[in-house]
Amino acid sequence: KRHLISAADLTRDDAVLILDTAEELARVADRPVKKLPTLRGRTVVNLFFEDSTRTRISFEAAAKRLSADVINFSAKGSSVSKGESLKDTALTLEAMGADAVVIRHHDSGAPHRLATSGWIGGSVVNAGDGTHEHPTQALLDAFTMRRRLTEGEGTGRDLAGRHITVVGDILHSRVARSNVHLLSTLGAHVTLVAPPTLVPVGVEHWPCEVSYDLDAVLDKTDAVMMLRVQRERMNAAFFPTEREYARRYGLDGQRMARMPAHALVMHPGPMNRGMEITAEVADSPRCTAVEQVTNGVSIRMAVLYLLLGGSEPAVATQPSTTP
Ligand code: CP
Repeated sequence: KRHLISAADLTRDDAVLILDTAEELARVADRPVKKLPTLRGRTVVNLFFEDSTRTRISFEAAAKRLSADVINFSAKGSSVSKGESLKDTALTLEAMGADAVVIRHHDSGAPHRLATSGWIGGSVVNAGDGTHEHPTQALLDAFTMRRRLTEGEGTGRDLAGRHITVVGDILHSRVARSNVHLLSTLGAHVTLVAPPTLVPVGVEHWPCEVSYDLDAVLDKTDAVMMLRVQRERMNAAFFPTEREYARRYGLDGQRMARMPAHALVMHPGPMNRGMEITAEVADSPRCTAVEQVTNGVSIRMAVLYLLLGGSEPAVATQPSTTP
């Protein structure tokens, strides 16, 4: 494949290849020299029209660990604020020789437009578009679950048959959409839990179940993924009070205690502490939020390598230090 636009486009084999490649690349982080020469001479552009901390920084770290040149573009402070279009911005980047463009955009469909427009010749990676998809987030979430939930199972570990619960603002969540697609492709059972006003129209066609009762599903879950309530995308009339939301859909210590002992608490970040998750839960050893960020670098290295790396092995055999 040339682009990564949607988790829905990934077959099981595609997804497993990315997860296995990320596993191999994660080992580089344990080496004294964390850099690989694999993408030397290639240019990766991070094109961010919307704010980001984790995704932007980890794509930059991933590209640099593969020795690519990185150009960071933020719409704030650029000629976008003077009205420059996506097309003219893309043509400008193309003129600078971008081999891959990692794009975050407030409009659902912007990465697809970029990939199919002919404005740029390189690969396009969706780093989150509107309320549509965030495929590398779903991949790093699956990577984290696979590592934690199948520890000690050796090769061929998978998430088939696991029960994953995704809780909160499903309506506005590209993370939820991408996770539903990817996790169902990997054979997991996904249950979405949300207030009725935060469930998207047409969810009955998604490969998952829907519940409005968090307490009813917690004891059967292998991982619970708490979502940020996206007030910035929301009409106030849609939303219960913060206190009511936290009482019915927030994860606190008491609820966490009802989960199976092995079950994970996940959050893509940024978190609204005190709303969808209490500080006690966010800071507990069962919460993988920080580990997810670490794993995001390996996943993004794998995606860039598989799109741009060609026939070079992801990790060359290290020269032996023994005589
Ligand atoms: N999870 C995530 O996409 O975080 P950022 O918005 O900080 O990139």
